[in-house]
Amino acid sequence: MPSISTSIATKFLSFFLLLVYVSRKTLAANPKTNFPTDSLVLGLVHSRTSLLIPKKGYNSISRKRLKTMEMGSDDNVIEPLREIRDGYLMSLTLGTPPQVIQVYMDTGSDLTWVPCGNLSFDCQDCEEYQNNVLGPKLAAFLPTHSSTSIRETCGSSFCMDIHSSDNPFDPCTIAGCSLATLVKGNCPRPCPSFAYTYGASGVVIGTLTRDVLFMHGNNINSPNSTKQIPRFCFGCVGASYREPIGIAGFGRGLLSLPFQLGFSHKGFSHCFLPFKFSNNPNFSSPLILGNLAISSKDDHLQFTPLLKSPIYPNYYYIGLESITIGNGNNNFRFGVSFKLREIDTKGNGGMLIDSGTTYTHLPEPLYSQLISNLESVIAYPRAKQVELNTGFDLCYKVPCRNNNFSFIDDSQLPSITFHFLNNVSVVLPQGNNFYAMAAPINSTVVKCLLFQTMDGVGGDNGDSDGPAGIFGSFQQQNLEVVYDLEKERLGFQPMDCASVAATQGLHKNV
Ligand SMILES: *[C@@H]1O[C@H](CO)[C@@H](O)[C@H](O)[C@H]1NC(C)=O
Ligand SMILES: *[C@@H]1O[C@H](CO)[C@@H](O)[C@H](O)[C@H]1NC(C)=O
Ligand SMILES: *[C@@H]1O[C@H](CO)[C@@H](O)[C@H](O)[C@H]1NC(C)=O
Ligand SMILES: *[C@@H]1O[C@H](CO)[C@@H](O)[C@H](O)[C@H]1NC(C)=O
Ligand SMILES: *[C@@H]1O[C@H](CO)[C@@H](O)[C@H](O)[C@H]1NC(C)=O
Ligand SMILES: *[C@@H]1O[C@H](CO)[C@@H](O)[C@H](O)[C@H]1NC(C)=O
Repeated sequence: MPSISTSIATKFLSFFLLLVYVSRKTLAANPKTNFPTDSLVLGLVHSRTSLLIPKKGYNSISRKRLKTMEMGSDDNVIEPLREIRDGYLMSLTLGTPPQVIQVYMDTGSDLTWVPCGNLSFDCQDCEEYQNNVLGPKLAAFLPTHSSTSIRETCGSSFCMDIHSSDNPFDPCTIAGCSLATLVKGNCPRPCPSFAYTYGASGVVIGTLTRDVLFMHGNNINSPNSTKQIPRFCFGCVGASYREPIGIAGFGRGLLSLPFQLGFSHKGFSHCFLPFKFSNNPNFSSPLILGNLAISSKDDHLQFTPLLKSPIYPNYYYIGLESITIGNGNNNFRFGVSFKLREIDTKGNGGMLIDSGTTYTHLPEPLYSQLISNLESVIAYPRAKQVELNTGFDLCYKVPCRNNNFSFIDDSQLPSITFHFLNNVSVVLPQGNNFYAMAAPINSTVVKCLLFQTMDGVGGDNGDSDGPAGIFGSFQQQNLEVVYDLEKERLGFQPMDCASVAATQGLHKNV
């Protein structure tokens, strides 16, 4: 979920009116704290609701179709398309004494934030999470219960970064500092509140806070390794729109977690467990930070270069060259538009790789070509009603003898291969394309293609700014994905993530 941070004065009027999109500039990489360049192995818990529903705002075509074909009230039409977040959670241990808060791991943003504050965390349009996912408990960080918690000051580089400002005086001027303290650089006022936006809809409002962060590693060689950042800078968020759970930003900016941990010039890797392990506390997906993530990978991984966008320098972009459907003799290869292959001089185009977006998004006409080609090679009966209910564009009734998943016959569903720049071919593992939407009935199970059109994500009429496509977390299951920031490249390898997790000691009770 790409995010754009925006400045906001302390006296926020209506935050929607004040959202001014400011392009983020690269800040000189200058880590103040030099941590030893060792590694950290963490476990991510796959969390999702029982319903698989496309992100609202990420599927305007389906929504339009629903509107014209369904009779219900507007609410009934919108309801099935409510955003339901799927993601991989990690634990942050913050403060003195420590408080443990679970947050999503997000490669598509920089800021790490937690629900925060004495008063109850105000999350608007979050009922579904609160009813279905979180239950009554919505853990918030309580800065007043931590003896080490302090507000970030207005003159810091983190404060400039969150306010997307190149002028070091900006945040302190908004904070009301005098000219004398401004020029001396010693204004003691706190960094003004910020608003931070996600994807098409989410917004959080908070203040920058510093406190001690402990990361408890699971490395098999040093099982209880803990990394400590004494003055970790994060967002203390009191109000949110559609973002009920905190987020750990793994982007490339100053505020990002890998940056503050001292791994920004090394990198990290993850191996997302498939959906069948979701919400299972006994299994977690390996997330490796530092040397261990990137060393000795050349012999078995294929690497594609990371592309740079001048307007979104903190995101991870790669170039998509083509897609192949099927393997063997009668496969079909699509070339894709140059927009997916490269980033233009304005900084638009390219394919964003984002752990915070669930499904892969492809631009038109590629998305429609993919759908019609799949339609032409798959002969199972369509599940039109499920398509209408979910907003997915391609669902099939797949035979499943005795209603037993062991006897599913989905051999007609072809494989899909993504070809990235530098001749990197990633055959998406079985299970990353079509997903069983419900338990089998009448010896049939409905499987839907979990891809989405990019139209409607970035703006109007397909002429949108930003990335041309997004490679989402669903398509990253059972792949080792290596962010090699030393060599500015991204590596892929199909992998049984459950067995990797076992070798890293990440399985409980196994
Ligand atoms: C927050 O709660 C703590 C203890 O529960 C209390 O001491 C403190 O005054 C409260 N702060 C605010 C701003 O209400
Ligand atoms: C790690 O911590 C666990 C629980 O705190 C303990 O049982 C175990 O012996 C520790 N392992 C090492 C190698 O210190
Ligand atoms: C996790 O492991 C425990 C102990 O073996 C078991 O009781 C529990 O059912 C497991 N949870 C899941 C979701 O499999
Ligand atoms: C499904 O089939 C397998 C293989 O025959 C069997 O072991 C399993 O018990 C069956 N599951 C159910 C729920 O019937
Ligand atoms: C690309 O990779 C394939 C195998 O994956 C290989 O057969 C082919 O020669 C490679 N092409 C180039 C230009 O390196
Ligand atoms: C299952 O089959 C029975 C008998 O053919 C039919 O009445 C029923 O509607 C079917 N159920 C579903 C969910 O398709």
